[in-house]
Amino acid sequence: MRFASILLVGTAFLAFAGPAAAEYTSPKPDLLARGQELYARECAVCHGVKGEGDGPGAIYLSQRPRNLTLGVFKIRSTPTGEFPTAKDLFETITLGIAGSTGAQMPSFAALSETDRWALVEVVRTFAWMDEEGTPIKVPPRPKTANLELGRKVYERLQCANCHGVEGHGDGPSSLTMKDDDRRRIFAASLSTGRFKRGDTPEQIWTRFYTGLDGSPMPAYAGKATDDELWALTEFILSLRAGATASKMEKK
Ligand code: HEC
Ligand code: HEC
Repeated sequence: MRFASILLVGTAFLAFAGPAAAEYTSPKPDLLARGQELYARECAVCHGVKGEGDGPGAIYLSQRPRNLTLGVFKIRSTPTGEFPTAKDLFETITLGIAGSTGAQMPSFAALSETDRWALVEVVRTFAWMDEEGTPIKVPPRPKTANLELGRKVYERLQCANCHGVEGHGDGPSSLTMKDDDRRRIFAASLSTGRFKRGDTPEQIWTRFYTGLDGSPMPAYAGKATDDELWALTEFILSLRAGATASKMEKK
């Protein structure tokens, strides 16, 4: 009898422990309270006390700290229009956000893992996130890179309108764009080798496939075949004249 109930408690705990579940359970109150304390100390200066992106630090940044209450996120492993996963948010908090437009949000890797998960709970509470999106599957990378095809796809999908022919972020539309906050925004430079969330081929694929919601960067899911999108990924990576330069920067 006793054995059975211990087993039951054990499985219930296991089921609760994984953050991978598609549907969220409410955060444990003590975890949320810890997160709120940390949020006030570490995040409110930029994101505002109520998460509306209007903290006193906001005016010093070229991109507005996210209004977390809108529930719209740029950096997701999930399709456009869906919530990110809890893991996506955890990585944003851990790594911060830099990219070609410069440092926008610092990394909080110095906080303990539990503290960072507590902050995820705060973000998802602000965003009314009662579920998480389903991550896309990136197909396996072909062995050879077809750069010629990649450039053709880049032309056909009109990436250059915003990112420029050589990817410097200087296409004609880059001069006039605004984000959903009606703040001025420029197309990312794809030639600096700096990306908002990583520069592995899979991360680059994920970024343009899912889009950066809330910015003018559309999602290109289904806009070309897998082979074409892989060629496009390789082409983007080849634009990094910076590929060698950025290695030197790191010393
Ligand atoms: C120095 C200011 C600053 C601080 C401090 C800061 N952020 Fe941010 N954060 C930003 C900016 C700016 C953006 C938007 C960047 C962009 O649009 O690329 C952002 C974006 C985000 C996003 C949205 C990411 C996405 O995919 O759209 C989340 C979530 C977030 N911050 C959470 C936090 C949390 C939690 C903390 C505290 C641990 C924090 N931020 C601290 C400036 C800050
Ligand atoms: C309408 C203008 C527009 C078009 C067309 C466009 N982009 Fe973008 N792209 C942007 C903007 C603006 C950003 C930066 C968004 C931000 O910082 O929030 C961006 C960001 C990106 C990023 C992420 C950079 C980073 O820091 O991680 C990649 C990769 C990218 N674009 C690739 C492409 C590719 C490939 C195409 C064509 C298939 C394309 N873009 C078409 C406007 C555009």
